[in-house]
Amino acid sequence: MRIFLVGYMGSGKSRWGKMIANHYGLRFIDLDTHIEEREGITIPEIFAKYNEEGFREREKRALQSIGDIDNVIIATGGGAPCFNNNMQEMNSLGETLYIEGTPELLRDRITSSKTERPLVKNYSQDELLEYIQNHLNSRKPFYEQAKYKIVTGDLELENFIQILDPIIN
Ligand code: S3P
Repeated sequence: MRIFLVGYMGSGKSRWGKMIANHYGLRFIDLDTHIEEREGITIPEIFAKYNEEGFREREKRALQSIGDIDNVIIATGGGAPCFNNNMQEMNSLGETLYIEGTPELLRDRITSSKTERPLVKNYSQDELLEYIQNHLNSRKPFYEQAKYKIVTGDLELENFIQILDPIIN
């Protein structure tokens, strides 16, 4: 059993992933951290060195490399489902859960977090909201292919558990 968490930057995939894994005693893998460990450099360094295209190739390979790990919760990067048929691949490798977020919430989380995100680093606070609205709209068709979805108003551990209990137990 493996569960992939998908959703936009700032939706809380890593935070919830850790909590869920902890709750069920499962392993937790953060795909971006996994990529950084494989490459020996950080995500911003990968973008700077190989551009987004090079990052997407590495992201794809990292995803394939964890496809046989069992009993695991995987937090993917915000763009992972949107390239290289990754969403289809995740749906065939396991269960997928989309964590939704409003553009305002995502913007606030992105601006207050320490994580460096190459795709949004050049936007001012005002520009960022508009960027997220458009970008999120273009990515939603991929996120919506997830088997399960948790909406912004339901972001509580008990709601995750309600969805995941039948899958995990
Ligand atoms: C990206 C999201 C990031 C990271 C990279 C690209 C994206 O992950 O993979 O900066 O394309 O949305 P988070 O969703 O964890 O921020």
